[in-house]
Amino acid sequence: LDHLVSVEALSNEQVMQLIKRAQDFKNGEVYTPSEKKYAVNLFFENSTRTHKSFEMAQKKMGIDLIDFEVATSSVSKGETLYDTVLTMSALGVDVAVIRHGEEDYYKSLIESTGIHLAIVNGGDGSGQHPSQCLLDLMTIYEEFGHFEGLKVTIVGDLTHSRVANSNMQMLKRLGAEVFFSGPKEWFDDSYNEYGTYLPLDEAVEQSDVMMMLRIQHERHEYYGNFSQEKYLDMHGLTEERESRMLPHAIIMHPAPVNRDVELQDSLVECDRSRIVQQMANGVFTRMAILEAVLNK
Ligand code: CP
Repeated sequence: LDHLVSVEALSNEQVMQLIKRAQDFKNGEVYTPSEKKYAVNLFFENSTRTHKSFEMAQKKMGIDLIDFEVATSSVSKGETLYDTVLTMSALGVDVAVIRHGEEDYYKSLIESTGIHLAIVNGGDGSGQHPSQCLLDLMTIYEEFGHFEGLKVTIVGDLTHSRVANSNMQMLKRLGAEVFFSGPKEWFDDSYNEYGTYLPLDEAVEQSDVMMMLRIQHERHEYYGNFSQEKYLDMHGLTEERESRMLPHAIIMHPAPVNRDVELQDSLVECDRSRIVQQMANGVFTRMAILEAVLNK
């Protein structure tokens, strides 16, 4: 892989290779590049899991990390993302993991003839979150051993979720049956290409995977009129709804979780929840991604 910027660019075979490689790392396999490699993590939007699991992956692989804080860099003097990445490339950095609020920010970077490093997208606005998608797929594959025919319902803030964008595409392509649920006003007709809308009380009884999404308050204008209790009651996974899930069904959430909003607090670490496993799998998935782009 030259870069990992969106899931559309990956073939099904590449996705399965990355998942299997992540499982190798989880099973203890070690990979260290034969030559010294340097990485920089440029996070223009806040992050805990993506940022720190890439950092953990880099450290486990012996990749040297160049510290970069947006607030203390020349970004504060108005330097653009392009010029920042051009500089990192000139310094000899091999891979840049970038999270940025602008959708498709990566296009000008990967088309540049002056930038000679691999770009890994850690999230672009409401666009894509390919490394999260891959760790979600790894978690589902670990559970079921296949994607074909699985019923996966993606619930909640579809409008703003880059996780949903990436996952709906890949799950459909890998043969899963995708459903959407949550507030109807957050469902766009364009999602019909990937799956169908189901009322939540039907979805919980039919799904193999309930994939809950964080409400991205920071991207909503209505905030202030929002009632957590009302949302949980109408669109959240409550203990009552969980009790109606299929015996083998699992709960996922990319986190951070708004506890008692998208799902009841008591369900975050319940037996069906794979939320902590998702976070752990993030490190191994990101090791597989880094290996792939460094060995292009
Ligand atoms: N799931 C996820 O992307 O979390 P962070 O925003 O903490 O990276």
